[in-house]
Amino acid sequence: MPSIGIIGLGYWGPLLVRNFHALLGPNFLTCCDRDPKQLENVQKNYPQVRLTQSSEELIHDSIIDAVVIATPAHTHFPLAKQAILAGKHVLIEKPMATNVAHAEELVELAESKRRVLMVDHVYLYSPAVRKIKQLVDSGELGKLLFIDSVRINLGLFRRDVNVVWDLAPHDLSIVDHLIGRLPRSVATFGACHADRDLEDVAYVNLDFGEGLIASIHVNWLSPVKMRHMIIGGERKSLVFNDLQLDEPIKVYDSGIHVRAGDVEDRRRVLVDYRTGDIWSPHLPRTEPLREVARHFIECLETGSRPLTDGASGLRLVRLLEAAERSIKAQGGRITL
Ligand SMILES: NC(=O)c1ccc[n+]([C@@H]2O[C@H](COP(=O)([O-])OP(=O)(O)OC[C@H]3O[C@@H](n4cnc5c(N)ncnc54)[C@H](O)[C@@H]3O)[C@@H](O)[C@H]2O)c1
Repeated sequence: MPSIGIIGLGYWGPLLVRNFHALLGPNFLTCCDRDPKQLENVQKNYPQVRLTQSSEELIHDSIIDAVVIATPAHTHFPLAKQAILAGKHVLIEKPMATNVAHAEELVELAESKRRVLMVDHVYLYSPAVRKIKQLVDSGELGKLLFIDSVRINLGLFRRDVNVVWDLAPHDLSIVDHLIGRLPRSVATFGACHADRDLEDVAYVNLDFGEGLIASIHVNWLSPVKMRHMIIGGERKSLVFNDLQLDEPIKVYDSGIHVRAGDVEDRRRVLVDYRTGDIWSPHLPRTEPLREVARHFIECLETGSRPLTDGASGLRLVRLLEAAERSIKAQGGRITL
């Protein structure tokens, strides 16, 4: 079994600890946080796990095969670089890095050192997104026309990245997974309220060409929490409501039929509406983060490339950087 070291035990890190602990047991786990209080919290629940306050010590520990990085976004690049150079495989939290140059460097480094590099785009391991991918790939929805995603709540304010870098990786990873190609351009509006320099409300718009557009609304100021995505297709459409535990996906057999006008009125097109059944697919109840941990361990054992590898992390960082440049350009369209 591979021996794993987890750095960062704030909000997300303990969830990673719980899942890796469930799969590997205490003897293959080392946990690190520079804050002793966070170490104490982990020790209470997992008294046998090895602990350290020093990321340097963990990264250079010869017992450890792979490092999981769950620290704030701006620390991902230096920690991951250090870990790969020390010969470790790496699983990094989203976003993989805070600029394209750093993400590219990590991908190249992992390739040259033949290390597994995986990014925790956790939604791609959820039963719901797996089902949505199946439905899209099977042609059930027909040609995709639009994706509309809303991820809003009274947010956990980050001090190092804005709301786009914090929340949009989730939506972008789903969109990237479903569509399988980069958009041709990105245009984003964003506004700062709580902090002069960090946007807390933003609208990210992606143009994929061929009539397919996507819009992502991320917001730390909303009084209500929403995790809602509509995927519109030519044949059917789908609504993914991540807060609806029983039936998170609903497929609507509804749409329009466009036909030409009659002889007297040739220039008009007529739109007929078609409303049919609504159904909700059955989904297995698996914890997405457990699947992330399982997949990472499997990649370490078999040497296979992760579903969410460094290249996919880099694609998202390209989109996030373009969104940020667009905000600075007052919503101007950034071509990719
Ligand atoms: N995949 C997801 O759904 C998801 C959800 C939440 C957070 N995240 C990601 O997880 C990461 C952490 O987020 P969080 O909310 O847990 O943040 P947090 O601020 O609650 O925790 C970060 C922890 O890292 C520790 N730390 C920072 N630098 C360190 C270093 N050099 N060495 C040792 N410890 C260090 C801090 O002391 C802190 O305890 C972020 O990148 C975030 O984007 C991902």
